[in-house]
Amino acid sequence: MKKLGILISGRGSNFEAIARAVQDGRLQAQIAVVISNRPEAKGLETARAMGLQAVSLPSKGVERSAYDRQLVQVLRQNNVDLVCLAGFMRLLTPVMIQAFAGRIINIHPSLLPAFPGLDAQKQAFDYGVKITGCTVHYVIEEMDAGPILRQAAVPVLPNDTVDDLSKRILAAEHQLYVETLQDVLTKI
Ligand code: GAR
Repeated sequence: MKKLGILISGRGSNFEAIARAVQDGRLQAQIAVVISNRPEAKGLETARAMGLQAVSLPSKGVERSAYDRQLVQVLRQNNVDLVCLAGFMRLLTPVMIQAFAGRIINIHPSLLPAFPGLDAQKQAFDYGVKITGCTVHYVIEEMDAGPILRQAAVPVLPNDTVDDLSKRILAAEHQLYVETLQDVLTKI
């Protein structure tokens, strides 16, 4: 059984979708550890409530490479095969990228390469696109970039608010992340 390390910063709904898929047997993997760079992340509570190992590894004030060395240590201690970024809002350095070369994936709430960065849903909404969506991709040093694994398109409807659109994208994210993992896990 391949071991997943999931990195979060907040709500953790993508992590939860992955964890439910593991519980239901839709995903043949084990969640070895959930790590948050923000101690207050709601996702850590969810992980603990699900009986998973949840580690708070605060990043505030820690130099990026030094932080990544801590991440690598925790992930290696847990024999992680694949690192899943799930709303992890911190740029990784070569320390992490090289330690888990080709084994770090991320989800982003837009059809990359459009609208990288923060508030991608609002960026797309404000631009006026009629179709946006979400992307799962391999992680490289550049933010929200790297070889694309899968995408899902989500329409922007005439009376949408940013909130409506974000909710519709989030539902697509949960499905897309699980489907992509089902696929990736057969290849590593
Ligand atoms: C998700 O929408 C995810 O795609 C986004 O953060 C949210 C986290 O939600 N990630 C990025 O924007 C990465 N650049 P969650 O904590 O409920 O999974």
